[in-house]
Amino acid sequence: MKVLIVGGGGREHAIAMAVSKSKRVDKIYCAPGNAGIADIAECVPIGVMEFDKLTDFALKEKIDLTVVAPDDPLVAGAVDVFEEKGLRVFGPRKNAAILEGSKAFSKDLMKKYNIPTAAYENFSDADKALEYLESAKMPIVLKADGLALGKGVLICNTLEEAKDGVKQIMLDKAFGDAGNNLVIEEFMTGREVSVLSFVDGTTIKTMTSAQDHKRAMDGDKGLNTGGMGTFSPSPFYTKEIDEFCQEKIYKPTVAAMKAEGREFKGVIFFGLMLTEDGPKVLEYNARFGDPETQVVLPRMENDIVDVFEACIDGNLDKIELKFKDNAAVCVVLASDGYPLKYEKGKIIKGLEKFNNSEGYYCFHAGTKFDEDGNIVTNGGRVLGITAIGADLKTARANAYAATDWIEFDNKYMRHDIGKAIDYAE
Ligand code: AMP
Ligand code: GLY
Repeated sequence: MKVLIVGGGGREHAIAMAVSKSKRVDKIYCAPGNAGIADIAECVPIGVMEFDKLTDFALKEKIDLTVVAPDDPLVAGAVDVFEEKGLRVFGPRKNAAILEGSKAFSKDLMKKYNIPTAAYENFSDADKALEYLESAKMPIVLKADGLALGKGVLICNTLEEAKDGVKQIMLDKAFGDAGNNLVIEEFMTGREVSVLSFVDGTTIKTMTSAQDHKRAMDGDKGLNTGGMGTFSPSPFYTKEIDEFCQEKIYKPTVAAMKAEGREFKGVIFFGLMLTEDGPKVLEYNARFGDPETQVVLPRMENDIVDVFEACIDGNLDKIELKFKDNAAVCVVLASDGYPLKYEKGKIIKGLEKFNNSEGYYCFHAGTKFDEDGNIVTNGGRVLGITAIGADLKTARANAYAATDWIEFDNKYMRHDIGKAIDYAE
């Protein structure tokens, strides 16, 4: 069969890698893809928001299954457009992708269905938000309602900072229209865990856990980024916590979406915080996480195409998800200066070392071919170096060893990805 993957980052490379292992797949296309994905898929120069071009392509090439990976097209209704044209597609429809597309929606859903999350208020008026802050407890969390490249969350330690944040988000529109509405939320403390799951509208099956490192610098300092590295599984995500989350968070979320007439088919990514009062939802995403996918999918044993189809057809209850009893660590190689200002177009050397190295993966996030055919840097996050190991420590040692195989000017990485695992023992 022919599969089209929509997207062009490290997550899509990891999805393409998993799809390429399916015995049922003869040909993979990726729109727009990148220089690494081009190794296993034919990249087509169509942007992720060009729905008509994407569906025309899928019809013309007789694509059997399309996977829409990024948040923007999902929230804007890409899946609905594919379905209207009679195409088979994996991902939530627009009315379900709102779970990620509007934080105010997701907070109200959790409140209505008693799903544990931080206390909050929604605001559409900046003056009311400012007034509310006067009597609020600090630190406090401000969240732009809409999609903001993972950057629309401000943690404010003082009233001054919080007031300034409201102005930035709601008046100066630092995140554009995403800041038309604002969620003001109680600050929580605890360990963060990411749990990705497959959902077929009714049944939910969770994948192995992972943890992201969102800050740019070692010791969780510096600015928030799209993610500087991940590890899987999380040693903090115990069996007891999983049982609690299955009953109090995962199943209720899927049932709530169904009850609201917003049946969810696709991936729900639960961003959790393990607080002293138990696990609480930090955020929902309506898609695979990036770079969580880069450590989760290499550990999955199932044929991913079977799982995608079971979600579409509502047969997920027939599938048993299986993950290897090992660990994976992904270290992101970024361009120095990310997430602010950085240079692109630097030649990347050493990529061939990954070709025959079992258990090592070099997922391309921001790369492209230059005019001479060299693979060059083309983004803030450039590569995700993932390695498998028998346990987390081994996986981490392997991943960091493999970061040395790659060279490019301005190469930047964190040196403490997976360090938290040391405290788990
Ligand atoms: P989000 O995009 O909602 O996941 O937020 C980005 C990051 O901000 C999360 O990964 C947390 O580290 C942090 N964060 C979000 N909400 C809260 C909260 N209520 N309390 C503490 N930290 C938070
Ligand atoms: N790694 C966080 C995200 O994908 O949103």
